[in-house]
Amino acid sequence: MMKAKERLDKILANSGFGTRRDVKRLVRYGEVLINGERIRDPEFHIDVDNDKVVINGEPLEIEKHSYFMMNKAGGAVCSTKSDRHQTVYEFLDEKDNQKRLGGSLSTVGRLDADTEGLLIFTTDGELNHRLTFPKYEVKKTYLVHLRDSVSDAEKATYIERAKSGLRIPAAANDPECDAKPCDIEFIEDAKCTITVTEGRFHEVKRIFIALGNEVVYLKRLMMGTLHLDESLGRGEYRTLTDEELFSLKELVK
Ligand code: URA
Repeated sequence: MMKAKERLDKILANSGFGTRRDVKRLVRYGEVLINGERIRDPEFHIDVDNDKVVINGEPLEIEKHSYFMMNKAGGAVCSTKSDRHQTVYEFLDEKDNQKRLGGSLSTVGRLDADTEGLLIFTTDGELNHRLTFPKYEVKKTYLVHLRDSVSDAEKATYIERAKSGLRIPAAANDPECDAKPCDIEFIEDAKCTITVTEGRFHEVKRIFIALGNEVVYLKRLMMGTLHLDESLGRGEYRTLTDEELFSLKELVK
């Protein structure tokens, strides 16, 4: 999903050389050679598979796209700026955070501030779009702790109602609506997993409000084929393995 030809400024920003503005300056100063020729046009398109790029005298190992999974910590927001909270980007290493400043690293969908667990980051806009595009109905599985224990009879009702697509209350800009059918599996009386295929604002919390209960803890365990790596501590992240990436791409191709 990386085009064979990419703009030089985008490649450099993705490789951690600073913001788009920084890298444009670098190129205009004549610090970049492509196949031995000095290029001063930041919009020059390079062939990422074949062109040899030298920057400040050092050969550049072109990083194609970045794909990370983070075990998001509770309390962090998925926006790029916040006066009140830490942002998930503040958990990234300096070099990776530069890719956000370069304008292309973003999260795949968002989690609420108090939600923990699997959060994907990528510079690959096309894969990001596909994983969040409603047509693909990518499954997201969450671990839910509930305020109230649920009796066996009620469990059956929860499961049935969730399967048939229940009416959920309005939240922020999203009006009252029918949620798409989803699967609930109980682990304990006040603990379950839920698998949804939409990404509506506060969706899981709204589903349990509609069922007369309340989510008191929420953690995403899975997105599409990708499982949260439980060896990651809160706020830690790592690059996806080739296999993980391949399966995700296959899912939405
Ligand atoms: N549903 C929610 O209610 N919150 C999340 O963070 C994700 C899904």
